[in-house]
Amino acid sequence: MSVTYVTDRCDGVEYDTSLKTTMVQKKLTGRDIVRMLGTCHARALGQIDHFGKVLNHLRFEGIPKFGKNVKDANDVLEFFEQELSEHLELENQILFPYLETHIPRLEPVIRLFYADHAGFKENLGHFRTLLRKVSAAKRKALKNTELMENLRETGTCLIYLLKRHLQAESASVYRAIEKELRSDEIKDLAKKIASTSAFKSWRTHLKKNSSDKDLPF
Ligand SMILES: [Fe+2]
Ligand SMILES: [Fe+2]
Repeated sequence: MSVTYVTDRCDGVEYDTSLKTTMVQKKLTGRDIVRMLGTCHARALGQIDHFGKVLNHLRFEGIPKFGKNVKDANDVLEFFEQELSEHLELENQILFPYLETHIPRLEPVIRLFYADHAGFKENLGHFRTLLRKVSAAKRKALKNTELMENLRETGTCLIYLLKRHLQAESASVYRAIEKELRSDEIKDLAKKIASTSAFKSWRTHLKKNSSDKDLPF
């Protein structure tokens, strides 16, 4: 998946030009950018907790709840494949290259984060394949111990990888955005972020769910 750069229209809605102007005119702080990225982390952590419960339910609730549990697993997967993947692409394509250039000492840790992203993508694909097999086998899947165990193990790996990654990122590169970038660099970075599909998703979500009238973007 790649970052969608929006020049004038997206999903039939013109937003980019005025939004970019707003981003440039407003005096953005590093905290504003971290707030946006942190919202996605918070949503991901909520989904990860839910995912852990779904994996347990799939294992222990048996036939009566099989259909519901498979659907729940698919819903979480959809979040990982869409919203979270957009966030990862924003980091791969914009945030990490920007920080590597402007705060070179972060390069080693950012290299680890790129590897985390690749590991996440690989595990996610594996989990998707297994879940498709479970869905196709329907209730008979519950008798296939190897398949169900594989699904649970792959899901558990995803949970571990993501939790560690999100925490490490917040404590290192996100903190550096707030503390180490100059105000002109913040403005420059914010402008680049405003062109991504991840930004659009975040903004839509926040407008829908937040009572905060003073949105930073
Ligand atoms: Fe990341
Ligand atoms: Fe992140």
